[in-house]
Amino acid sequence: ALETLTTIDSVRALVRDARAEGRGVALVPTMGALHDGHVALVRTALERADLVIASVFVNPLQFGPHEDLARYPRTPEADTERLAELGVTTVFMPTVDEMYPDGGRSATLVTAGHLGTVLEGRSRPGHFDGVLTVVAKLLSIVAPDVAVFGEKDAQQLFLVRRMARDLNFPVEVVGVPTVREPDGLALSSRNSFLQPGERADALVLSRALEAAGAAADRGVESMLAAAQAVCQDDTGVQLDYLAVVDPRTFTSATDQHHGPAQVLVAARVGTVRLIDNAIFTIP
Ligand code: PAJ
Repeated sequence: ALETLTTIDSVRALVRDARAEGRGVALVPTMGALHDGHVALVRTALERADLVIASVFVNPLQFGPHEDLARYPRTPEADTERLAELGVTTVFMPTVDEMYPDGGRSATLVTAGHLGTVLEGRSRPGHFDGVLTVVAKLLSIVAPDVAVFGEKDAQQLFLVRRMARDLNFPVEVVGVPTVREPDGLALSSRNSFLQPGERADALVLSRALEAAGAAADRGVESMLAAAQAVCQDDTGVQLDYLAVVDPRTFTSATDQHHGPAQVLVAARVGTVRLIDNAIFTIP
């Protein structure tokens, strides 16, 4: 049976008891509206620990003033049902007030630093500080052995890993490969906002990555040019950024770069902002 916990104290008590019995703990942070991408994270967590805690919390701190906090999809009943079917026994579903009491007037934030201001962070100021702050709070509340994140949000995964290292959280951060629709579209809760015509346009992102991968033999500039060409074909898609980074540092790869190269793309399809990425090897 699945238990839904809404208070921080009840999570701490549950984890304390599990630890006393020698059980390992895994955390899967989510904002709900669960899809098969989240399911892959949960399955990985279930393989890695005896007690899996999934959190469902739409974190206001990571939404900009003009972003979609109010219309972010919320499906708590379906989410709980899905998690129960998978064998998850504990869901942490706090209120905003439980996480940010006194109207969120707490002053301490985790900052992502410079890497929080580039790529996704350039289009979404403050976003990664909001993400890292809530993830730090969740890690502090649950104190898991393992925390599971998706590679789909590559910059988020990189920054969470770096925060865990920088702030000495005794946790192993595990990344899970991006789950895609059969035609290549990366699963995202924002896909539900795509109008029928936009659903086809959205394929530009995964196609651009594929084109970049096919050009990997010819170096970074060729990869960018190949991906760019795919994006220009489609008038319904407004490219936000296209970049190739060294996945070890998340900084721009030069044309001399060899080894793993991560291609990142963000674009607006209609009113929906989508991101995707893939890692290729430049020989
Ligand atoms: P959310 O968008 O709900 O995503 C929760 C987790 O699912 C993230 O680690 C994300 O990378 C992963 N995920 C989403 N789509 C995926 C896909 N197609 N394949 C694999 N994994 C996928 O990311 C957040 O919430 C928040 O920022 C959060 C970390 C919970 C902090 O509030």
